[in-house]
Amino acid sequence: MVAKSNSSKETYNRGYVILIAVIVAFGGLLFGFDTGVISGALLLIKNDPDLLMNNMAVLPERQQEWVVSITVLGAAIGAILSGRMTDKLGRKKVIIIAGIIFTIGSIGLASASSVALLIIWRLIIGFGIGLASYTVPLYISEISPTQARGALVSINQLAITIGVFLSYIAGLSFANFEEGWRWMFLAGLIPSLILTVGMFFLSETPRWLMVNKGEDEARKVLDKIGESNKEEVLEKIKNTVKKEREQIQISSIKQLLAPWVRPALIIGAGIMFFQQFTGINTITYYAPTIFEMAGFGADSVQPVYDAILPALPLGFVNVLFTVVSIMLVDRWGRKPLLYLGLIGMTASLAVLGVVFTFYSSIGAVTVKWAAFTSMMIYIPSFAISLGPIAWLLISEVYPTKIRGFGMSIATMVNWVSNFIITNTFLTLGLVTTGKMADPSGTGTLVNPGGAFLIYGAIGILGLIFVYRYIPETKGHSLEYIENHFLEGKHPKNL
Ligand code: BGC
Repeated sequence: MVAKSNSSKETYNRGYVILIAVIVAFGGLLFGFDTGVISGALLLIKNDPDLLMNNMAVLPERQQEWVVSITVLGAAIGAILSGRMTDKLGRKKVIIIAGIIFTIGSIGLASASSVALLIIWRLIIGFGIGLASYTVPLYISEISPTQARGALVSINQLAITIGVFLSYIAGLSFANFEEGWRWMFLAGLIPSLILTVGMFFLSETPRWLMVNKGEDEARKVLDKIGESNKEEVLEKIKNTVKKEREQIQISSIKQLLAPWVRPALIIGAGIMFFQQFTGINTITYYAPTIFEMAGFGADSVQPVYDAILPALPLGFVNVLFTVVSIMLVDRWGRKPLLYLGLIGMTASLAVLGVVFTFYSSIGAVTVKWAAFTSMMIYIPSFAISLGPIAWLLISEVYPTKIRGFGMSIATMVNWVSNFIITNTFLTLGLVTTGKMADPSGTGTLVNPGGAFLIYGAIGILGLIFVYRYIPETKGHSLEYIENHFLEGKHPKNL
């Protein structure tokens, strides 16, 4: 099938290109699945007598935090090494390596016999996530025809949210199984195999081939894609490669600190800081734990199932509102969506903080439903704003000469901030609001109220940051944005 593309000047084999993007986007889906799956699995792991030391009734909070967050640390390491690996080995091989890690990791996790082994396997799978988080968008953007690039790259962001949603479904499906957490992890095997096997049938990107194997190899791939303006595309690739070579020489520390570069670095690192420090992944990774604290499943015969069930609509609205954001971002602009989203997130965090902090005087039923409603407002607020827009902004604000480096710094800030937040969520609750009576009447649970109030306060700082530093990039070419910075003008006045 050769379809006419939008510009009507170029044609390409649309069906084939979409197929490629969908196969590669399984990497994004696994990023979502393997980060989200711990949310349901944790409820079973922390009470599994086979995993606990002799005298433990439940896995201590610090160990729970490590089981959840070690994956993020692995991802940070994977993301750091991705740049070099993709240049040396090629994009395709790195995605295959990630696929193999996901495959072996699912089996390793499913068969782990101790908490220590679980942590090691979560670290390994995290490394695969880091590789995928960098390489999948890179692969898609390098293989896509220019006019379809934006839409095809956003398939990845969508795939991440679909992966999180599917992980909640896996959680629910196996909640009542004996050692159901093993099956939850094992479910990741299916998309891992699709990714690994599917990748063998795809080509390397024309861009990598041009640099490493010469023009003829690059031309062959463009033939397959059915690109009609082959020679023009090859010429463009040559130019970009040349520019990038210049870029490597120029990105010295001195260049990075040049006054005209600084605003872009602040914007990129800052938006990623706020994306993570407003707590998205405490909700994504700990949703059923929070629902358990709010009393879901408290007087049920299937408590784990009932604590995972309300996460399902959360996962669904995350996918839905990511689509809404992709549709609105070029019409409304980035800043209005960021304001709207941050207001929704801050307000819902404040409600969550208050209901948990004052849970004993509020009444169990109100706490339960106020918590659920706030989370149902928080997630779509994130999904229309900081979720996709943070990633979009870091692909727009860096001057060409430091784009690669700037994006990797921002990605690092994202993973490191994610690690700090998910590694300290329960401890932060303990230190600020302490423990609360377990709504099921057995023992105590951490009260997360204080943690949510802190994330809410950071949300207010985020609003100020967006107002003061974020440029409205809607409708501007990358060159225009770059010139604005070069002239030393304030980002806000773009
Ligand atoms: C964030 C992830 C998060 C996901 C949730 C992404 O934009 O970077 O940390 O888990 O959105 O949907």
